[in-house]
Amino acid sequence: MAPAIQAENLVKTFGDVRALDGVSLDVPEGTVLGLLGPNGAGKTTTVRVLTTLLRPDSGRATVAGVDVLKHPNRVRSLIGLSGQYAAVDEYLTGFENLQMVGELYQMRARDAKARALELLEWFNLTEAKDRTAKTYSGGMRRRLDLAAALVVRPPVMFLDEPTTGLDPRNRLALWEVIETLVEQGTTLLLTTQYLEEADRLAHDIAVVDHGRVIARGTADRLKAQIGGERIEVVVHRADLVADAVSALSAYAIGEPAVEKNTRRITVPVSGGAKVLADAIRELDARSIEIDDIGLRRPTLDDVFLSLTGHATEAEDEGGTTGKGGRGRGHGKGRAGDDGEGGQGPDKQAVAAGKEL
Ligand SMILES: Nc1ncnc2c1ncn2[C@@H]1O[C@H](COP(=O)(O)OP(=O)(O)OP(=O)(O)O)[C@@H](O)[C@H]1O
Ligand SMILES: [Mg+2]
Repeated sequence: MAPAIQAENLVKTFGDVRALDGVSLDVPEGTVLGLLGPNGAGKTTTVRVLTTLLRPDSGRATVAGVDVLKHPNRVRSLIGLSGQYAAVDEYLTGFENLQMVGELYQMRARDAKARALELLEWFNLTEAKDRTAKTYSGGMRRRLDLAAALVVRPPVMFLDEPTTGLDPRNRLALWEVIETLVEQGTTLLLTTQYLEEADRLAHDIAVVDHGRVIARGTADRLKAQIGGERIEVVVHRADLVADAVSALSAYAIGEPAVEKNTRRITVPVSGGAKVLADAIRELDARSIEIDDIGLRRPTLDDVFLSLTGHATEAEDEGGTTGKGGRGRGHGKGRAGDDGEGGQGPDKQAVAAGKEL
């Protein structure tokens, strides 16, 4: 069976920036691919190419067996898209926004209404359904936009950072909605910056960096590759760092990372809470005073550090691998120039494709 989404060697440049540098991927029907990567990796650009909103310089792609470059209108009739920035009509109510999408797709008025109400319920927006979207909070807009992408139950869905900006309760609710969709047979490509999210939702993960897929596999495989959990210790004084590293090395299954200025030591371990308890006892036995200690699961930074030898921030200075430095100062908030601001009309073009 042909994959529901297939991309071969997609290249896209914007001036000097090689946003896509040969992206290839495939998503079998009925499965979820998580596209995981830091800011500017090329996630949104990949989604825009696959959803016909952007032409690549080279490469080819098919969605549901249809060539994206040759038959964009046919592709549009088969997909749903929720972009990174919510594209809702400010002057319509939540209900009207969803009803409008149904009508764009030529649903019967009664069906469009019923579907709108059902989706408002799923996304915890029933109480706000008669307010104009311009009074919605960021998270509410996000949810309305996601609901709009689900109006017509398309067989293939693209969700670009669907849970960014959602509070924990709504994030969980969205995960459940996504799981239901997938149970019903929808093929999904979602982008995320959270390993945890890809872990929960995706059958398969593609890690992207600098416009390339640098690793591919199940969450378990990637985690095995980067090795278990991490013990993170902050020692009380800088002169204790070396001692602590030596005390912890007995439990390490990989190279410990040290941030000198914060006195933080991160050690890959396997064995969970027991190892943590042992480590605490060992530090105590050596009278190494600590400010903080904890066990945590691998983060995107750990994945990157392990796959590429650098943290998510390529230009990261000072040897830290923390989250603070993430982001290359581009990829967000651009105006015009084919930027993300164009996704409102784009989405309607995708919707209107149904009629063509
Ligand atoms: N329309 C555009 N014009 C100029 N440069 C662009 C444009 N779209 C994307 N880029 C550049 O291409 C690169 C990839 O951007 P993209 O939006 O695909 O990243 P991303 O992985 O979605 O990042 P984020 O996590 O920040 O959303 C970035 O360097 C970005 O600045
Ligand atoms: Mg993006």
